[in-house]
Amino acid sequence: MLSGAIGRVQSPRVIRIGGGVALEVADVLEQLGLSKPLIVTDKNLIILGHVATVTDVLDSAGVAWGVFEDVVEDPTDTCVDAGLNAFGQSDYDCVIGLGGGSPMDTAKAISFMSVNAGHVREYKAPYQIDRCGPPVILIPTTGGTGSELTRWCVITDTERTEKYNLSGLACVATAALIDWTFTTTKPWRITADTAVDSLTHAMEAYVSRRAFAYTDAFALSAMPLISEHVRSACHDPENAIAREALMLAASQAGMAFSNASVALVHGMSRPIGAHFHVAHGLSNAMLLPAVTAFSVNDAPERYATCARVMCWASERDSDEMACARLVEELTRLNDDLKVPCPSELGHAKDDAMFSVMAEQALASGSPQNNPRIPSAAEIVQLYQQIW
Ligand SMILES: NC(=O)c1ccc[n+]([C@@H]2O[C@H](COP(=O)([O-])OP(=O)(O)OC[C@H]3O[C@@H](n4cnc5c(N)ncnc54)[C@H](O)[C@@H]3O)[C@@H](O)[C@H]2O)c1
Ligand SMILES: [Fe+2]
Repeated sequence: MLSGAIGRVQSPRVIRIGGGVALEVADVLEQLGLSKPLIVTDKNLIILGHVATVTDVLDSAGVAWGVFEDVVEDPTDTCVDAGLNAFGQSDYDCVIGLGGGSPMDTAKAISFMSVNAGHVREYKAPYQIDRCGPPVILIPTTGGTGSELTRWCVITDTERTEKYNLSGLACVATAALIDWTFTTTKPWRITADTAVDSLTHAMEAYVSRRAFAYTDAFALSAMPLISEHVRSACHDPENAIAREALMLAASQAGMAFSNASVALVHGMSRPIGAHFHVAHGLSNAMLLPAVTAFSVNDAPERYATCARVMCWASERDSDEMACARLVEELTRLNDDLKVPCPSELGHAKDDAMFSVMAEQALASGSPQNNPRIPSAAEIVQLYQQIW
């Protein structure tokens, strides 16, 4: 759909995608003229053997490497500092982020903070970090965040208990090796949560006020891949067709939202992650049906198209009918994926906290991309509703 809008796209120089491409890591390093990577990952991925898959290739190619394995979920500024310290311990010339969004974002931050002065908190978006650090090679293992293709990096400020965005050319990877075979070890819950994260990226990019024809194509391709395959990947972890589809969709959705931005769901989701340590995809899932119902009337054609491409409504249905089906099917998806509400996880309703979270959501800038731009009071009401 052409709108006459001007699009601005940033993406990695090298993208390899498909089963087994992680085994090409030494080849990619050689192509980029790199010889000594620091691998940034988490302990779970060491236990699962995914780090060894990559280091075996490096060993066979005679490439020296080091590893920083202390990345935590929803990575903090202190985690970035520890990674920076590890990076400074040897003559590394690049960073390999291996894992979900947490290791990949930590790898990005280690790279740009090695050449930018001060503390990572000083670079919060909308500041654009364009001074790039050493090359970053990203190898996703969750297939959810799409961070391997985005110009975003999400870090938690431990002083303010706030998850914030960093953005700019320095947050774009140099190379992305997108290999779905890592994802077969994801347990049920992580499979469901990361898939809904991708679905939220695709939907929010499509309805975003900053969407344009190029990002629409990625978003429209990602949505049906996720709605068709998420349940089979959850129930049959080794299902190669479902895993490949979800990994492809995650990257496409990443490309879409990286350049069109996310909207209200993500704006409200980050404070839930920061204050209650709910997994990112799960907090998105908690919000997605309610925020969609709140927003549909301000972009009915766009939301109706989301429903139609996922075969949740037909061309014969009116936009109004298709929007209603969208909310219904998102609610059904949450039921099937056993998405709890925050109170079921033991987090009590707290209106004072909701006000702080609403301010943090608005400060992130994401709600301003939503078709219906909410007030702080409306965000508080939405938190009350989904709690
Ligand atoms: N930079 C971006 O563009 C962007 C976009 C969306 C989200 N994010 C951020 O990414 C983070 C979330 O990332 P995530 O959802 O990928 O999860 P994650 O990286 O936090 O990992 C979650 C858990 O999954 C495990 N895991 C990872 N791969 C696995 C595998 N193949 N098999 C089994 N277990 C595996 C990890 O060890 C960890 O315990 C959040 O901080 C979020 O805000 C970033
Ligand atoms: Fe996300």
